[in-house]
Amino acid sequence: VTPLRVAVLGAGTVGTEVLRLLEQQRDDLAHRVGARLQVIGISVRDRTKDRGDHVDPALLTEDPHALVREADLVVELMGGIEPARTLLLEAMAGGASVVTANKALLAQDGAELYEAADAAGVDLHFEAAVAGAIPLVRPIRESLAGDRIQRVLGIVNGTTNYILDAMTRTGAEFDEALASAQRLGYAEADPTADVEGLDAAAKASILASLAFHTRVGLQDVHCEGITSITADDIAAARRLGSVIKLLSIVERIDDEDLGERISARVYPAMIPATHPLASVSEAYNAVFVQADAAGSLMFYGQGAGGSPTASAVLGDLVSVARQRVHGGKGPGESNYASLPIAPIDEL
Ligand code: NAP
Ligand code: HSE
Repeated sequence: VTPLRVAVLGAGTVGTEVLRLLEQQRDDLAHRVGARLQVIGISVRDRTKDRGDHVDPALLTEDPHALVREADLVVELMGGIEPARTLLLEAMAGGASVVTANKALLAQDGAELYEAADAAGVDLHFEAAVAGAIPLVRPIRESLAGDRIQRVLGIVNGTTNYILDAMTRTGAEFDEALASAQRLGYAEADPTADVEGLDAAAKASILASLAFHTRVGLQDVHCEGITSITADDIAAARRLGSVIKLLSIVERIDDEDLGERISARVYPAMIPATHPLASVSEAYNAVFVQADAAGSLMFYGQGAGGSPTASAVLGDLVSVARQRVHGGKGPGESNYASLPIAPIDEL
């Protein structure tokens, strides 16, 4: 069987781990997919940087446009809006399936990307974009597709959980805890997105879009971050038997006058120390999904970091690669209903 040509865009925290796993598990993956996955190029900004043993310098390129034209499968791990958006559109128009971890891009331009994937008849998978290693996108997108989801609620940003946890458990200062989260590879290239709640809001918009089959953009999510949380706030919460967590909540709300609507919000909240979310430590994430028939489901695991995120990327890569080899196409997202969304200033 002809090998599948894989283009990897980005070889930073996540990209290098994906390349390590692709090399380490080469034979197993070929077995699972039914064809070899051949990395034909790795796009970076700076080819001279040392990237460790698992990144073949001969594959590095600073011309991602030429690279995606040659690929069957494109794995986008560069982050940011451009050039990632244009590259993914080019890749799909050229017939390649795409795997991305880019929540910022999906929150802003998801609709355009989903439509491009469906128009080209290719797959667009993004498990790693929400909650790192935790399988959450696939359960909501596929396993619960026949149910009616009422609410998705939890902790979906590892960096802010790490910071709040360190401030609570060890009395660490905000800046010190943030620097540590950056060193461990949890934070975004610009950590403002984490601490201002925007990363969690992007994930909330993706989760709401999938759960309610309605396009929910970043602008529809009420968003408050954790930059104003002080050691005094944490101590006050402790005296009340509570901890502070950054929560993301997307839910159906039934308004007497306006009927059913969707509400999406991210904000720091005091929760009782006995609540299951209170014990979520370090960069772990935990999410509850409540659906009519399924009842309440809980998802828990490592929400950030190179290796956990690479696990989710590889899972998607195997999925899209299998579709290539065996025919068929995974779920599409361009066919949405449209429930009204509650304006954020009402919340
Ligand atoms: P990162 O460490 O900053 O790596 C980004 C990589 O992309 C670098 O190799 C960089 O090249 C390359 N790159 C950036 N802009 C580029 C451009 N314009 N052209 C070519 N190459 C470019 O980021 P990361 O933490 O791996 O995150 C990657 C993606 O995964 C982001 O969308 C992020 O939101 C998402 N994600 C990250 C995590 C996590 O825990 N880190 C978890 C889930 C999802 P140079 O190395 O040459 O600068
Ligand atoms: N910066 C993100 C976080 C990475 O801390 O959760 C995982 O999406």
